[in-house]
Amino acid sequence: MTQTAVALSTDARTAIADALNQSVAETTVTTMMAQNFHWNVTGMAFGPLHDLFQKIYEDHFVAQDDLAERIKALDAHAEGTLAGMLKRSKVGEHDGHATDREMIKAMQGAQETLAATLAGCGAMAAEHGDTLTEDLCIARGQTHEKFAWFLRAHLS
Ligand SMILES: [Fe+2]
Repeated sequence: MTQTAVALSTDARTAIADALNQSVAETTVTTMMAQNFHWNVTGMAFGPLHDLFQKIYEDHFVAQDDLAERIKALDAHAEGTLAGMLKRSKVGEHDGHATDREMIKAMQGAQETLAATLAGCGAMAAEHGDTLTEDLCIARGQTHEKFAWFLRAHLS
């Protein structure tokens, strides 16, 4: 049955918020990675890659807030420290010392990890009847798969 935030049990809200916190963490780590690559990318495709990495971090910056505010709608704590986010994130930091192809591959991997995390978070929310969180996660998962395709297309 579809449930709004106030109708969910405490256990359900805690579980969904935990999955959302992982999504926020990975989105934030990937935001920094995209800025890092935006600054440090080199090569003949500098212009389009500089722009693409900017599109990614601008998108992720907005998404991070949408996901964190959904956690607050569920009346849970939104992780707000970088150290805490790095612990939760399956996307690791990148030092930015890499060729353009290596950056594209690293960012493609981050986008695929995010798509999987968001798909899992959405499915888990749906199990609890939280279709509003599910909807947000589905939209984010689709965006990450679109960015993964944009990046993959550079390497074929
Ligand atoms: Fe810039």
